[in-house]
Amino acid sequence: MSNANAPRGIVVLTGAGVSAESGLGTFRDVDGIWTKYPLEDLATPEGFARNPDFVQGFYNDRRAQLKTSEPNAAHVALARLEAALQAAGRRFTLVTQNVDHLHETAGSQNVLHMHGELLKVRCQACGSVVRWPDDLTSKTHCPVCEATGLMRPHVVWFGEMPLYMDEIEVELSRADLFVSIGTSGNVYPAAGFVQLARRAGARTLELNLEPSDGATFFDEARYGKASDVVPDWAHDIMKWL
Ligand code: OAD
Repeated sequence: MSNANAPRGIVVLTGAGVSAESGLGTFRDVDGIWTKYPLEDLATPEGFARNPDFVQGFYNDRRAQLKTSEPNAAHVALARLEAALQAAGRRFTLVTQNVDHLHETAGSQNVLHMHGELLKVRCQACGSVVRWPDDLTSKTHCPVCEATGLMRPHVVWFGEMPLYMDEIEVELSRADLFVSIGTSGNVYPAAGFVQLARRAGARTLELNLEPSDGATFFDEARYGKASDVVPDWAHDIMKWL
C-alpha cells in the first residue's frame, strides 16, 4: 500500500471488548453482564418502569466502577490514530456502543456514543441531558426543571432508538474502510454497519478476540486481545500516512 491508496475515510465501531482489559465487563461472554443480570429488567424502559430503584442501583454501580477504570492500549492507539489521520487530512469517525468514557480519557476527540453515556443522565420531564458522575435515586431533582424522581441514565435501552444514526449512516456511506473492534455483532443496528459499509464500497476488517456473529461479512480479520491487535493495526495504517 502507498500513501495514495491509504484509506481516505475510516469508520471504527467499538464494543465492550475494547474496554474488557480495562476491567469493565463485556455482556455476552462467559461471566458477561447479561449472563449474571436479567437484560429485560435492566436494559428496557419496561424494566425501569417496573423497578426504578433496581435499575438505578445497577447503573449507579457501573458509574462508580468508571472512577477506577483506566484506558488500555487499544483506546490509546485509536486516539493516536485519530490525531494522525486528522493531521494527514483523512476522515476518521469513532462510533462506540460503549457507555464508558475511556475513549475520551485516552484522548479521542470525536466519539459518537450510539448507546448513550453512563456519565450523563436525562430528565424524562424536560428532556435535559446533564453530566452526572454520582448516584441517581428516585428522589433526585432535575437541575434544570426541578422535577423530582424523573431522572434516568442517558443510556439507550432495548426498544429505544440509538443516537447519532443519521451522522453514522453518512460516514458509513463515505468510508473506504470499516473496522469493527470488540463487539459480538449481536445487537442491531450496530451489527448491520458492516453490511451498509460494504454496500457503499468500503473494505471491512474485524478486530476481535474471536470471530463475531457477523464474521463472514468481513473481508479481513485479526483475532486477539484488543490491546495487541488494535495498536498493531493502527501502526500499519499510520506507516502509510
Ligand atoms: P458483547 O459482550 O456482546 O461482545 C463483546 C465482544 O468482545 C465479544 O465478541 C468478545 O469475544 C470480544 N472480546 C472480549 N474480550 C476482548 C478483548 N480483550 N479484546 C478484544 N475483544 C474482546 O458486547 P457488545 O458487542 O459491545 O447495549 O454488545 C453490544 C450491546 O449489547 C452493548 O452496547 C449493550 C449490550 O446490551 C445496551 O446496553 C443498549
